Parts: sequence; structure tokens; C-alpha cells
Amino acid sequence: MEQIRVSLKSTGSAYAVRVGSNLLPEAAREARAAARSRKAALVTDTHVAALYLEPALAALRTEGLSVEPIIVPAGEAAKTLTQAGRLYDAMLAMGLDRGSAVVALGGGVITDLGGFVAATYMRGLPWVAVATTLLAQVDAGVGGKTAVDHPECKNLIGAFHQPAAVLADVATLATLPDEEFRTGLAEVVKHAVIRDAGLFALLEAQADRILARDPAVLEPIVARNVRIKADVVMADERESDLRRILNYGHTVGHAIESLAMQAAASAGGPPMTHGRAVALGMVAEARIAERRGLVGRGVVERQRLLLERFGLPVRAAGLDLARCLEVMRHDKKAEAGRLVFVLPESIGAVRVANDVTDDEVREAILSLA
Ligand SMILES: NC(=O)c1ccc[n+]([C@@H]2O[C@H](COP(=O)([O-])OP(=O)(O)OC[C@H]3O[C@@H](n4cnc5c(N)ncnc54)[C@H](O)[C@@H]3O)[C@@H](O)[C@H]2O)c1
Ligand SMILES: [Zn+2]
Repeated sequence: MEQIRVSLKSTGSAYAVRVGSNLLPEAAREARAAARSRKAALVTDTHVAALYLEPALAALRTEGLSVEPIIVPAGEAAKTLTQAGRLYDAMLAMGLDRGSAVVALGGGVITDLGGFVAATYMRGLPWVAVATTLLAQVDAGVGGKTAVDHPECKNLIGAFHQPAAVLADVATLATLPDEEFRTGLAEVVKHAVIRDAGLFALLEAQADRILARDPAVLEPIVARNVRIKADVVMADERESDLRRILNYGHTVGHAIESLAMQAAASAGGPPMTHGRAVALGMVAEARIAERRGLVGRGVVERQRLLLERFGLPVRAAGLDLARCLEVMRHDKKAEAGRLVFVLPESIGAVRVANDVTDDEVREAILSLA
């Protein structure tokens, strides 16, 4: 098991992210330490419950906690105020008070929703995140951002609320659907490009074992990703400058995700996953950097090859790419009329640019066709 400590200047608090296999007993110990009243709510979704609810409840009860599960439907659709309301009702019925804990067992939807409810019920309860998707382990579970969606805007309603502990159990990744695993890999590639050339080389060298979800390889890789996200978050707790680099691939990626969602809604197909959109975003944003002479062809190629190796797209077929820029302008990341881009300078280093012209953006997006 690897452990990464996250310490926060603003609150003077610190917590550990543990990465390893079969961590439910460890999660239960953390929940027990956090819950003075020995009461806890276990928040999870239907898919995760089918796989891990029984062992999770057993581990929590073994620690002497009085715990009841609250199960929401699987998927983004559960990240709503309506579901949060259901959770508050259930927690009230269980008699949870400020000395109780919330255990969020699942992917990013569950850590966001469970964390949000923990942030707001009685003005805040301690919570423990048990992340079961690669995306939640390397991204959503670290950083203390919690939220639910508004019908018109994702993550509109939220709070910063640091967990008491985070457990990233790489053994649970064995049951994750391929497409969900891939979406996490896109963020892993992102972390490597923005901060860690050694990680990038490791991903290239160990691609087969990663895709086979070998826990012995996943454990150090997830830990390295947690360290990157935690370093950035610790240096910049409330999302201003440094934290922006985590948006690499996301300025274009978010626009592609919305375009794909609109296309899917009108054609009736499934929407594009976040990871696929981010992969395309990274390809386009690296292209801007290449055209500016910030990076050479070799870096762009290495990124493209690794994304392909992980089954992520590097070309966007069937999207109205010409509308992408317009969609981007609506993105909340637009600042003073200018879009902010994170541009690679090499594998492992990026710079933030707010002077990218519309022509450069258009050229890069159209190059995805
Ligand atoms: N708070 C943050 O900083 C932050 C950062 C990035 C993303 N997010 C949020 O994370 C969410 C996406 O997270 P996600 O991709 O993990 O989605 P998710 O939580 O919906 O999980 C994806 C799917 O995998 C299933 N699942 C989860 N663990 C499983 C397992 N071990 N085995 C089998 N199935 C499993 C889930 O039931 C779901 O169907 C978004 O809502 C996004 O906004 C938050
Ligand atoms: Zn992302």
C-alpha cells in the first residue's frame, strides 16, 4: 500500500490517500476514527452496490459502526439536488448528527454527491471517500471539490469539503467496464504530460499490463497520479493559477463533449465519454503548441501513440467541429473574452496561455477531422 499525505494550509488539516488492494477494512477503520457517534451512512450506486455493498457493510460493522446504506441510481443522472434531498431524508431518519460520518463508495459521481451531502448536512460531517473508478482514484477523489449538477450546468452547486481519508482500491478496477477504465486513462495521460515525464515513459513501457489491470502495476501508477493531483491542489487550494494546468485537454475537450452530447441527443446514440473528449482535446491543444513551435513533432506523436494504445480517440468523426469554438466561448473557463489554454512544452511540462487566437483554435480543432 502506498500513502500520500495531503495537507492544507487554509484549514490546517491533513488527510491521507491510501492506494492499494482490498482496502475496505482500512476504509472502515478510517470511518470509525472519523465518526465519534459511531454512526455512518454508506452512500453508493446500484452498480457498485451489486459488487461491493455486502463486504463494505461487513467491514464497517466489524469496526463497531452502526451503518445503513443509501443507494442511488448509477450514472451522472444521480448527481442532483433531488438525490441529495433523498440522502438528507435518509440520514435524518438514521439519526445522523455532526459526530457521524459519510462513507462514499463508488466513482466520481458518488464521491461528488456523497462529499456534497457530507459538506452540507448539518453544515458539514466528516466523510471518507472509497474510490472505485480509475477516474475517481486519480482525479475526482482528490482535491476536496464536491458538487451536484443543475439541469443547465454541470457541477453548479457545490462546496470545498476535504475528506477525512481517501482510499483508492486498485483491486476494484478489475470489475470496471472497459469504457470507464479508458476514461480514467485519459486523465492519467494528462497528468503525465503536464507534470511527469517518468510516468509517461512508464505508461508507454507498461501499457499491456495496465490494460490487463494488473494491480501490481496499477498501484504505483495510481499513487503517482494521486501525488501529481495532490501536489497541484496543495500548492493551489482554491483553484486559481497552478490548478489550471489540470485543465490540459479540457478547454477543447469540454466543447467536444457538449457537441457530442447534442449530436447524441438528436441522433439517439450514446454520448461521448469524458475521457474520449479529453483525449481529443489533448490532441488539439498539443497541435496549437506544435504550431507555435513550443513542442516538436516527436512529443505530439508520442502523445498520440499512447492515447491510441489506450483505445482513446485521436480523430473526431461525425462532429460539427466548426461549431466547437462557439461552444467553447460558453465555457465557464473563458476569462475576459479570452479562452485559457494549457499548452505542452515537452512531455512533463506545460505553460498556460491566454493569448491563443481564434484562428489557431480553429485550425487545431479542424485538424481533428
Ligand atoms: N470533484 C472533482 O474534482 C472531480 C474531478 C473529475 C471528475 N469529477 C466528477 O466525476 C464524475 C465522473 O466520475 P466517474 O467517471 O467515476 O463516473 P461514475 O461514478 O458514474 O462511475 C462510472 C460507472 O462505473 C460504475 N462503477 C464504479 N465503480 C465500479 C467498479 N469498481 N466496478 C464496476 N463498475 C463500477 C458506476 O456505477 C458507473 O456506472 C463526474 O460527475 C465528474 O463531474 C469530479
Ligand atoms: Zn477531466
